[in-house]
Amino acid sequence: MADKKASLSVDGEIVAELPILSGSAGNDVIDIRTLGGAGYFTYDPGFLATASCESEITFIDGAKGVLQHRGYPIDSLAKQADYLEVCYILLNGQAPTKSQYDEFKSIITNHTMVHEKLAHFFQGFLPDAHPMAMLCGVVGAMSSFYHSDLDIDDPAQRMRSAHRLIAKMPTISAMAYKYSIGQPFVYPRNDLTYAENFLHMMFSVPAEEYTVSPVLAQAMDRIFTLHADHEQNASTSTVRLAGSSGANPYACIAAGVASLWGPAHGGANEACLNMLEEIGDVSRVDEFVKKAKDKNDPFRLMGFGHRVYKNFDPRATVMRETCHEVLKELNIQDPLLDVAMALEKVALEDDYFIEKKLYPNVDFYSGIILKAIGIPTNMFTVIFAMSRTVGWISHWDEMLSQPGHKIGRPRQNYVGEVDRDFTPLKDR
Ligand code: CMC
Repeated sequence: MADKKASLSVDGEIVAELPILSGSAGNDVIDIRTLGGAGYFTYDPGFLATASCESEITFIDGAKGVLQHRGYPIDSLAKQADYLEVCYILLNGQAPTKSQYDEFKSIITNHTMVHEKLAHFFQGFLPDAHPMAMLCGVVGAMSSFYHSDLDIDDPAQRMRSAHRLIAKMPTISAMAYKYSIGQPFVYPRNDLTYAENFLHMMFSVPAEEYTVSPVLAQAMDRIFTLHADHEQNASTSTVRLAGSSGANPYACIAAGVASLWGPAHGGANEACLNMLEEIGDVSRVDEFVKKAKDKNDPFRLMGFGHRVYKNFDPRATVMRETCHEVLKELNIQDPLLDVAMALEKVALEDDYFIEKKLYPNVDFYSGIILKAIGIPTNMFTVIFAMSRTVGWISHWDEMLSQPGHKIGRPRQNYVGEVDRDFTPLKDR
């Protein structure tokens, strides 16, 4: 709704009247779509103040530490719903009734197997390939398996792709792990919950029975929920941008996986554990905190800080609780976890971190929990990608269901050479 206007004046002359749009919560946005006609573009590398779309999925108030999916607060969802219920909410817009939930659960459970030919793709990877590399490739390859469901203008086909992706991501992720350690792939089991089934596919072997611990399954489920969506972050924006050209959902999700991989985004949980290993001992925590504060040193404390949250990350609050529960339950004695707890304490009390509003983020605690569960470090970002798939696909579906959606095509501030004379190679 546009009931306010902003005027843009350049050197005292008004060059554009721009509508101001109000959403249901959060900052108003200045609608600059007509500005190009006035001869101006806006300049916002890193999208510090740019709303790229209209969305009903997730609301974040970074200053207040609020995160809501479809209006439901994240801590209620993390504590009172399971991940599949959160998936339903993200995809469909509201909490399911019991029968809607049962039906959704049954659909997801019955799509967990992958085509046997898809399993062959793994044989092309070197055994030491990073599981994220395998995930990028194999998820993209899913495009070649479901030709009958690739009409992106058909909402029913879009939903089937969403169900397939949510169901098969854990299977593919666990396959990447099994391949990397030289163990046989483990087929999904439909009698287990989503989280239990993932742990089963990760850790069971044909040689013996594997019993899934309920504490670990619950912690895993919570990790999935807390990573399920986070509005227009880098990977979600990548999925939207890829999807805006009409690309198929599997290609778009593969693009999201690639974007998530970087250490400033989903790669932070792996980078955080690597950093804890580098620190190695509680006695060296101060030294690393000093390095992080040194302007001339590029080192950053991984798992600290967030572009949006400047008070606390509400996901980190729930994750912290879960982290302490899991460590207590498992009675874990690991020097790395001692380093993590010491680092958390020092950084929370240090003026530099307080002034810059740098707090442990969700990936600081999720990395510690995953390590305690026995998940290898190089699988951390894979688990983030699995969990975020529902967010990506919900945004992709929302974008395609909005009338008049356009291909994403940013402009630029060109600062290169212009109008140069070209001399043919033979004369140079
Ligand atoms: N350690 C030390 N200093 C930091 C850190 C850190 N982790 N993060 C930011 N700073 C400093 C930074 O040097 C800068 O200082 P100055 O103003 O003196 O130049 C100031 O804080 C602001 O940093 P910024 O890079 O401008 O902030 P940003 O909003 O662009 O970056 C961030 C956000 C998450 C990329 C950044 O905090 C970071 O690199 N953190 C470590 C990586 C990490 O944990 N990422 C996971 C984010 S949560 C999961 C997700 O959503 O993907």
